[in-house]
Amino acid sequence: MKVIVTGGAGFIGSNLVRALVAAGHEVVVVDNLAASCSTRLIDDVWDRITFIHGDIRLAEDLERVAEGPFDRVYHLAASFANELSMEYPTIDMRSNIEGTLNVLAMARRVGCGLFVYTGSSSSYGDVPVPFDEDGPTRPYTPYAISKQVGETYIRSSGLDFAIFRLFNVYGPGDPPGRYRNAVPNMIQALDCAEGGIRIFGEEATRDFTYVDDVVRVLLDAPRALGEVINIGTGVEIPIVDLGRRLLDLFDMPESRMHLEAPRSWDRVVRRCASVDRLRSRVGWVPDTPFDQGLRRAAEWMFEAGHIRRKPA
Ligand SMILES: NC(=O)c1ccc[n+]([C@@H]2O[C@H](COP(=O)([O-])OP(=O)(O)OC[C@H]3O[C@@H](n4cnc5c(N)ncnc54)[C@H](O)[C@@H]3O)[C@@H](O)[C@H]2O)c1
Repeated sequence: MKVIVTGGAGFIGSNLVRALVAAGHEVVVVDNLAASCSTRLIDDVWDRITFIHGDIRLAEDLERVAEGPFDRVYHLAASFANELSMEYPTIDMRSNIEGTLNVLAMARRVGCGLFVYTGSSSSYGDVPVPFDEDGPTRPYTPYAISKQVGETYIRSSGLDFAIFRLFNVYGPGDPPGRYRNAVPNMIQALDCAEGGIRIFGEEATRDFTYVDDVVRVLLDAPRALGEVINIGTGVEIPIVDLGRRLLDLFDMPESRMHLEAPRSWDRVVRRCASVDRLRSRVGWVPDTPFDQGLRRAAEWMFEAGHIRRKPA
């Protein structure tokens, strides 16, 4: 296949690109490197892909994508995620909405068999769990709103599409950082001599999905033709439980975990996917054991130099 991956230098994108290359596909990556300022996550496949250092907010950058037709466009490039968007809402509007319109226009120009979009569980907002694809959505952060608007444009684009709503993805390739995810940030906090895991709200839960499982579903995207499908495990994990598992992984005492008040921007206490549609359309549900996935994430962080201490 000939495939375009926007956001292919990022966490999920780099794992997807690696899997596509391994399967023998021809891959064009478009990324402005806003997230990592580097191509290091795809350095191992660099000589087997075409890389366009381009910004999806700029239609002229996307004109550098050569004629297709392409079998698939995987549109992952986005300003990520909720907390960042509260501080810089305009970036989300431009990258996640205007950028998505530009990528759709590019897909029409070059020819696109299937347009695959990584939407977000954030778009559900504060609704009862499990989050059902046909149920209500009440997005309230600029990120959540922009990801949902992206879905709407794709559904009305006239292109064949598959829309996936991803739930708290974790695993190798996810670096720690000011606006990044709970798993790498907690692991990094434990690496500091005085540092500890901060849990924002005792009741908080999430549905943590291992990145290889997500990639496997994305590769199978034609099974989701014309649909919106959650990618989650259907298992609701208390954040306190995540903290304890990480303490075990690094053989550290409970005193290294601190409960704090929920953050003002985060009104979603419980988050968990309904996986009925995923099971019926794709035939399986992400099943990497949580402790195994956490260990791989931590080992990657060690190998990539993000932490100095190996898991126990
Ligand atoms: N990680 C998760 O838990 C999660 C959950 C739900 C949805 N998603 C979605 O999955 C996709 C990938 O997320 P990720 O976790 O890999 O994030 P990421 O930040 O690691 O990757 C996003 C990539 O997009 C690139 N990018 C950002 N703005 C761009 C622009 N204007 N032009 C070109 N490239 C741009 C970044 O440089 C980065 O490489 C995103 O669409 C995100 O909304 C992720």
